[in-house]
Amino acid sequence: MSQRKRVGVLISGRGSNMSSLINACNKPDYPAVITLVISNNPDAPGLKIATQAGIAARSIDHKTYPSREAFEADLDTALKEAEVDLICNAGFMRLLTNSFVEGWRDKQLNIHPSLLPAFKGLHTHERAIEAGVKLSGCTVHFVRTEMDAGPIIAQAAVPVLPDDTADDLAARVLEAEHKLYPHALRLVASDQIQVEGEKVVLKNSWQAADGLFSPPIV
Ligand code: GRF
Repeated sequence: MSQRKRVGVLISGRGSNMSSLINACNKPDYPAVITLVISNNPDAPGLKIATQAGIAARSIDHKTYPSREAFEADLDTALKEAEVDLICNAGFMRLLTNSFVEGWRDKQLNIHPSLLPAFKGLHTHERAIEAGVKLSGCTVHFVRTEMDAGPIIAQAAVPVLPDDTADDLAARVLEAEHKLYPHALRLVASDQIQVEGEKVVLKNSWQAADGLFSPPIV
C-alpha cells in the first residue's frame, strides 16, 4: 500500500461519524490515518471519544475569535501543523469562507444526511417525511463554498417507512452514514477518483449493486 493519507476530522458534537472513521482507520489495510480531531465546540462529546482512541484532539472555539477569517486562520494552521492531506467534516456545524474552502479544494469531504441535492441544510429528515419521498439517505461530497454542495463522491439510500418519525428516519440514515463515510474516504485516500467538471469520476469501472425499491417489489 502506498503511504496512508493523513486526515484531520472536524466535528461539533457527538462524533459518531468520526468514530466510524476512527474504526476504519484502525484496520491495517485502510489507506488513511486520522492525525488530528478539531471541534469548534469545546463541549463536543466527540473530543473525549477521540482522545480515548489515542488521537490528538483539541477545540478551536469560534466564539473566541473576532471574525470568521481569524477562526479559520487558526484552523488552517492547526491542520497544516498536523500535516494533514485530507479533511473530513463530520457533523461540523460551521460554514467556511471561500478562502478556506478553496485552500482545501478537493481535499475536504463532508457528510450530509440526505440524498443531495435534495434537502440541503438543517431538519432534513422532517422535510423528507413532509415531502413524502420514499427513499432518503446520505451523501459524502467535496466541500464547496455553497452549503451542502460540491462534487458527490458516494451516496447511500434507505427507505422512508410509512410510520417513520424524523428520529426513526435519522437513525436509519445514520446507520448508512457510518458505512458510507469510511467507504468514500477509502475511495479518495486510495486515489481511485478524480474530479472532472465538478463531477466525481471513478478511475476504474464499477458494477451497479441491485437497486433499492421502496416500497419493495415483492
Ligand atoms: C450526521 O447526521 C451528519 O450527517 C450531519 O450531522 C450529524 C452528525 O452526527 N452533518 P455525528 O456527530 O457524526 O454523530
